[in-house]
Amino acid sequence: MWKPKDKIKYDPNPGKWPSKEEALASRWFSPIKIGSISLNARTWIPAMVPWRSTDDGIVTDRVLAWYERFAQGQPGCIVVEATGIRDVPSGPLLRIGHDRYIPGLKELSETVNRASSGKTKLFIQLIDFLSIRRRPDANKFFSRFLTITENHRNAIGQINWTDDQVRGFLSNCSDNDLDRILSTREIEDLRMGTRERVTDTELEHIRLLPEVLPSLFADAADRAKRAGLDGVELHYAHAYTMASFLSKKNTRDDGYGGKIESRVKLPLEVFQAVRDRVGDDYPVGCRFLSDECIDGGSTLEDARFFALEFANAGMDFISLSRGGKFEDAKQPPVGGAIYPYTGKSGYECMPAYISDAQGPFGRNIKPTSSIKKVINAKGFKTPIILAGGIHGFEIAEKLIQEGHADIVASARQSLADPDWFLKASLGKGGDIRLCTYSNYCEGLDQKHKIVTCKLWDREDLSDPNIQKSDDNKRRLIAPSWKIS
Ligand SMILES: Cc1cc2nc3c(=O)[nH]c(=O)nc-3n(C[C@H](O)[C@H](O)[C@H](O)COP(=O)(O)O)c2cc1C
Ligand code: SF4
Repeated sequence: MWKPKDKIKYDPNPGKWPSKEEALASRWFSPIKIGSISLNARTWIPAMVPWRSTDDGIVTDRVLAWYERFAQGQPGCIVVEATGIRDVPSGPLLRIGHDRYIPGLKELSETVNRASSGKTKLFIQLIDFLSIRRRPDANKFFSRFLTITENHRNAIGQINWTDDQVRGFLSNCSDNDLDRILSTREIEDLRMGTRERVTDTELEHIRLLPEVLPSLFADAADRAKRAGLDGVELHYAHAYTMASFLSKKNTRDDGYGGKIESRVKLPLEVFQAVRDRVGDDYPVGCRFLSDECIDGGSTLEDARFFALEFANAGMDFISLSRGGKFEDAKQPPVGGAIYPYTGKSGYECMPAYISDAQGPFGRNIKPTSSIKKVINAKGFKTPIILAGGIHGFEIAEKLIQEGHADIVASARQSLADPDWFLKASLGKGGDIRLCTYSNYCEGLDQKHKIVTCKLWDREDLSDPNIQKSDDNKRRLIAPSWKIS
């Protein structure tokens, strides 16, 4: 995990908790309309991948238990983890790329409805991503993966060498020589693992993305609707396909890259295809970045433009994250895959307790507020969802009252204590288990291990009824709340 230079340590600072009466009178615990439906409260759990599916991408008992536990805390909305829209193997990531996923997702929406006593709406985040290979062993890379070209022979000065001779030579080169002989892209493939980009238009399946993605997203959204989910969130954030189209780094020259109007074209076409399929009365919004937080990436100014376009197109909500990119991610170990939350932009997405003078809490407030002001000034009322280090009632309430956001979301605090919204609303804030922003959970996500919170393991471990991880070391579900 990337750490800021100053390395200042921060403790959680939730401020004052409300009495039951104060909570009842608050804006955070008041209803809000999202398109045709109403949330019971402006509390929101954004998407978090817990790696609890199987290689078949189905809703497992562990997936059901994970969302059931969040639903018991009765947030206004839970967004189901990033769920793959294609019917292709994606590791233990949830999928929605075929009708066979509908029964499992139906059971999931019924589970959340039951566990929250009907108080929580369930949206699902729809994701498309491109292929990433693990960082190769150098010998394997030179002997099998690298395509030998005249450029290599010229750089080595041996234009008559066979491919095998070039491969053998490269296997014994120093890093400096490799930097001279290989292209930038080949160096990256070697040191980080091969990663497809939306700009690889020489590959047919990448060139055709604008043709295939609208219907893939539309089909997936239709399945979500048929499964009884309350709405869909198009994943236009972080390191994945749609965010890469929005990115300033997108230089495609087919009308879907380059100038900002072209970069937003596919995200708008995807939305339109989804809207046409599910109809006006089904909530559809997106999550995108207030800032990519990388050199040469999209900035807040771009984000304001995108938000206006999305609001104008008729999205029902806009959820804002920041950072989380591949471009500045750390080098993975040999055999490991690059993870987009290990660099500075990853830190901006999920800031940890070791921080800089700005601190880890609320780094997305100012950009979100400025985006909301721009779209409101143009007459759009699209609800804006803010996330990032929020773990207290006082700040959440202030953000809504002062017009910086319409809904305040919390990922890791909700993981640390899934009951925290309920506790705060009942005047029991003192019972809340506060997230320490250790990012232990993020470390598990990075290794595609079942995500849990380290604070859970401190409670009631001897209880014979608790579900534990396969190595028997970790609680799989947050401890239940014993009302005091
Ligand atoms: C384990 C884990 C998995 C995550 N998975 C997703 C995801 O699937 N989609 C997404 O948009 N954000 C994902 N995030 C980011 C969160 O939704 C959120 O934006 C981020 O953690 C900052 O909010 P917080 O400070 O309240 O945790 C994930 C975060 C964590 C900790
Ligand atoms: S492991 Fe728990 S305490 Fe640490 S960041 Fe994640 S949710 Fe917070």
